[in-house]
This record gives sequence, C-alpha cells and structure tokens, in this order.
Amino acid sequence: MKGLILSGGKGTRMRPLTHTSAKQLIPVANKPVLAYGIEAIVAAGIEDIGIIVSPETGDEIRECVKDGARFRANVTYIKQDAPRGLAHAVLTAESFLRDSPFVMYLGDNLLQHGITPLVEEYRSLNCNSEILLTKVPNPSQFGVAELSSEGRVVKLTEKPQHPKSDLALVGVYMFDENIFDAAKAIKPSKRGELEITDAIQWLLDHDFTVHPHIVKGWWKDTGKIEDMLEANRTVLDTFERDVRGKIETSSAIEGKVVIEDGAEIVDSVVRGPAIIGSGARVVHAYVGPYTSIGNGCSLEYCEIENSIVLENSTIAHVDGRIEASLIGKNVKICRTHRKPAAYRFMLGDNSEVGIT
Ligand code: DAU
Repeated sequence: MKGLILSGGKGTRMRPLTHTSAKQLIPVANKPVLAYGIEAIVAAGIEDIGIIVSPETGDEIRECVKDGARFRANVTYIKQDAPRGLAHAVLTAESFLRDSPFVMYLGDNLLQHGITPLVEEYRSLNCNSEILLTKVPNPSQFGVAELSSEGRVVKLTEKPQHPKSDLALVGVYMFDENIFDAAKAIKPSKRGELEITDAIQWLLDHDFTVHPHIVKGWWKDTGKIEDMLEANRTVLDTFERDVRGKIETSSAIEGKVVIEDGAEIVDSVVRGPAIIGSGARVVHAYVGPYTSIGNGCSLEYCEIENSIVLENSTIAHVDGRIEASLIGKNVKICRTHRKPAAYRFMLGDNSEVGIT
C-alpha cells in the first residue's frame, strides 16, 4: 500500500498563523501535526508516501519533512495548484497512486491509536474502501454518515445543515483504484470543491464495498485554535517525565514535564503536563499545566498555562496569567517603559487579543 497525506489547503480558520505558515506545521506538544500523520502511516508498515502541498506552503513543508528519511519514509511531493477539494487532491496524485491501494490521511488530523489496525483490517477485508467514523457533538461541521440497522453505510453528506446522524467522517480513508473513477464522475459541491464524501457516495451508488469502522480512541481535526489546544492537552497527558535541560536549584519541576536538552529553568515553577523545547529559557516564570513552549523561547517574569508558544518567541514582564493562547513564531510580548503608558500592538491580519 501507499500513503497520501493532504497538506495543501488554505488554513483560513487558523489565521493569522497560516498567513505565513502551513497549518499542518503548527506544533502539538512541540511536534508538527503533520509529523504525527507520517509516523502513523510508517507505523502501519507503509513507506511510500505522497504529500499533497499547495504552491504557497510547499517549500516550508519540504524543508520540514525533506525526503522523509528521518521518519523511515520515502516521500514524494505532489503540488496541487489550488485547494479544489479532497477528491481533486486524489486525482492530482493519480499517477503516484495508480498501481496500489492507498491510505489517505488529512494532514491536520490526529488519531490517538494511530492507523495500524485499520490498515490491517482494510487489507484483510478486501473491500474497495474503508472509512473511519466517530460520534461528535457538532456533526454539521464534518462529513456525516448514515448507517443501516445492520451497520452498512447508506448515505454520506458533507457538512449537512440538518445532520441525520452524529457519526462524523474522520480524516483517514482507504481506497483502491476505483476512487479515481468516482472522483472523475462527481461535480464540485456548493463550496466549489470536489468532495471526497461525494466520491465515496458514488462508490456506494455503484455497488462498491465501503466498510465503516467506528473509531474508539480520541480523534482531533486541528482546524481551529480550541482543537489545537485540546490536541496539545491530550498529547501532553501521554508524556512521561523527562528532564534533560539545566534546572537552577530554586526552581520546582512538578509532575509530567519534559525539558529538552539545552533548555534552562531559573527561579521558576513548571507544572506538568508541559514541555519546554531545547534552548528555551524560563526565568522567574510559571509554566502551568498543558503548555508547550517551543525551542528557543524566552519567558521572564510571566505566567502561562494551557497554551502553545511556537519557537523563538519572547514573553517578558507580563502581569496576569496568559491562558488558552496560541502564540506564533518570533512573537514578542513585553512590557515597555515608553511614555505615554499604553498598550502597543503590531498584530497581523485576523489576530486576536483578549484583555481583561
Ligand atoms: O477532518 C475531517 C473532515 O475533513 C471530514 O469530516 C470531512 O468530510 C472532510 O471534507 C474534511 O473536512 P474539512 O473541511 O475539515 O477539510 P479541510 O478543508 O480542512 O482539509 C483537510 C486537509 O486537507 C487539510 O490538511 C488541508 C488539506 N487539503 C484540503 C483541500 C480542500 C488539501 O490538501 N487540498 C484541498 O484541496
């Protein structure tokens, strides 16, 4: 089998971070979301992986993943000219995938238990496609499946206003070559995309077998900040304590905390689950539960929890605790002594600041 990871798209819901970066590279517990997907595919015994990239973010993704060797994968990049839909991405990758069944993995999805048992199930069932479903409280934000009383897939609808079930399509799918005929047969949806949901419906309508697998563990589509923070919390919770950086004696490192090589903690409290990246400095600060501090960050006289801070950012002399925040790369949040005493911002388009 081969793997296809979809890492194109625009990431509009994660702006402003996605003005400059691919959303699939935003880190969860200091590792890009995309890396979890590659690891899951490799763990399932699949080495040949195609990655769909957009013209805007392709270079950045290439720079991060390179040829895939560090994941023990053999990566091919496939450029999609514009985000014309998941089924369009499949067609774009047709020459790469043609000779092999494949697993398609949406690059912004995270699954707790990986995909190994699912790939094995697909191989053993000999069906044309396998889809993953899970119950969600907000089905109208996803593709939604209706099952018959015997558990067969009857109908799939993309983001229905009035969902007929609470079973959402998870962003991992397995297909054989019939998906190409399906993707060629369908028309763009109201949002102008060739929907994979419609292509799978075409398979059903033409008597191909589509096996539904209900996912038991947690699954996250990290498309929005709340999802990102929740994914961060869930992954950090699985960590074991591992303190490798330099800890000044007056500091307290409590619970499941990972402090990477070259990080320095001075006169501070770090309360896990939390991770502090290599080269980061935490001085007279409090890093509370469910926080990921990226490589090279500097935190001084500040308090932060339940947040993600990307690499090389500085937070200094901030009164009041920072909470539920996603802070990009090279950001500076500092107190100044300039007059008049006032808030001074330089924020990108679509930034959000909450002040009490
Ligand atoms: O996360 C699960 C959901 O993913 C499913 O329930 C839906 O049925 C499915 O359509 C999809 O919905 P989203 O609206 O969340 O898809 P999104 O546009 O976020 O794209 C998913 C990934 O695929 C993301 O990493 C970007 C990438 N992508 C997207 C499009 C539209 C591409 O590489 N090319 C594209 O043309």
